[in-house]
Amino acid sequence: MTSDNSLVVRNLSVLYGAVPAITDVSLQIEEGSIVSLIGANGAGKSTLIKAITGLVKARAGDIVYRSKVLTNQQPNDILEHGIALVPEGRRLFGSMTVRENLEMGAYRIDDAKKKRELFDRCLHYFPDLEVKLPSPANSLSGGQQQMVAVARALMSAPSVLLLDEPTIGLAPAFVNVISSVVRDINRQGVTVLLVEQNAEVALRVSRYSYVLESGAVVKHGRSDIFLHDPDIKKAYLGL
Ligand SMILES: Nc1ncnc2c1ncn2[C@@H]1O[C@H](COP(=O)(O)OP(=O)(O)OP(=O)(O)O)[C@@H](O)[C@H]1O
Ligand SMILES: [Mg+2]
Repeated sequence: MTSDNSLVVRNLSVLYGAVPAITDVSLQIEEGSIVSLIGANGAGKSTLIKAITGLVKARAGDIVYRSKVLTNQQPNDILEHGIALVPEGRRLFGSMTVRENLEMGAYRIDDAKKKRELFDRCLHYFPDLEVKLPSPANSLSGGQQQMVAVARALMSAPSVLLLDEPTIGLAPAFVNVISSVVRDINRQGVTVLLVEQNAEVALRVSRYSYVLESGAVVKHGRSDIFLHDPDIKKAYLGL
């Protein structure tokens, strides 16, 4: 069922103390695809992403990438496997400059030439950041900070990018920038898992989507079909 290079989440459960946050969640992200995960507040989206990146422990189930079991490895080891996170709320180093934030993203890359290439590619994706390089990250607007967060993750040269609500609270112009960069990154061969409360953006950007409710997958299917699905429209598109 699974192609060898997929990122596969199999029967995953995470509890906070005794309280289940996600239960028996399974999904598959094929290499080179954009998959979205939509769901309301508290559905368990961030918990799933944190489990994949080793930030919370899986109580049951497995995370498999390129046929290697990564369940409950340390976050640094997950990054070594090429899986990078753009975390919810960005979590920039606020008093550090934009340039320093980007350099932090490349901490595991020794090759100076490669670092330079990654840096140039980030500025190609986000040309507005160039003049901001010497500025402290917390002096930027929300939209610009989100660009820095995406760029910082790209500086690790990931093969999989996980984005946790990258467009939340952003003005429409920034939502468009982030969406189109996510598509561009994917066209360069990076596999993407896009977590969004903004289902419209998620369904338009992705090819396949999973719907999470109360910690469980309740529906999955092609994003273009979901855009016209009456239940999805009512529950997630406000139509
Ligand atoms: N550190 C924590 N300790 C205890 N419970 C938590 C913790 N983090 C999340 N939860 C609970 O786990 C459930 C899933 O939360 P999670 O943050 O994964 O949801 P989410 O889908 O990302 O929501 P949002 O859209 O608001 O970001 C919620 O009931 C939440 O209250
Ligand atoms: Mg969340």
